[in-house]
Amino acid sequence: MMIVTVGNAKGGVAKTTSVMYLATAWARRTGRRTLVLDADPQSSASLWRDMAEDAGHGFELVDVLPANLSTMQRLRGRCASDDLVLVDAPPQGKLLEAAVNVADFVIVPTSDSPLDLQQAWATMAAIPQSVPSAVLVVRAEAGTRAFGETMAALDEQRTPRFDAIVRKRQDIKKGMGTVPAKSWEYAQVLDELMGVAR
Ligand SMILES: Nc1ncnc2c1ncn2[C@@H]1O[C@H](COP(=O)(O)OP(=O)(O)OP(=O)(O)O)[C@@H](O)[C@H]1O
Ligand SMILES: [Mg+2]
Repeated sequence: MMIVTVGNAKGGVAKTTSVMYLATAWARRTGRRTLVLDADPQSSASLWRDMAEDAGHGFELVDVLPANLSTMQRLRGRCASDDLVLVDAPPQGKLLEAAVNVADFVIVPTSDSPLDLQQAWATMAAIPQSVPSAVLVVRAEAGTRAFGETMAALDEQRTPRFDAIVRKRQDIKKGMGTVPAKSWEYAQVLDELMGVAR
């Protein structure tokens, strides 16, 4: 079992989107169940699943469950049978701390904006050395100055990051409440995660 927490102190940086796409990509690739733990009080991951079910397109192999501090602290003992557990983390507090501490890996998504990058670094700095983590650049507009500067700053600071860059796509933007039909660059993110796990 691998527990992957997706977290960032900054809001609106595709945490929920990344969790739902990664869960679907994993289930599709392996044919195995994936557990998404919705630890964000906004309950966006749960809403995403509910909207999909209301529209008659349930997630077959992805379970979305709410998670509180107690669930999170006992996660490792309780979820032994799940291959991959993805945690949609809240922006701050004890629950974020617990979600980070229980993780095998923490993904810190950031868009290609300098302001988001500051928050990503702050989030990375708060993650204990013992927990591997990396920045994932999302909603990227390759070829723009902001994108170039973001990548240069990450390289300059030697910030661990995924080689995969998730591009800004209408298909992903409209993905909320649907079962993603295509994994896009999240398939490569999974490859890289599995490389770390091995
Ligand atoms: N690759 C992408 N291309 C275009 N739009 C995207 C992409 N990824 C995410 N988005 C959009 O960005 C917005 C924020 O995404 P999301 O809700 O997943 O972020 P979040 O970090 O979970 O936000 P919150 O802090 O509110 O929980 C959404 O409108 C989503 O559709
Ligand atoms: Mg969210």
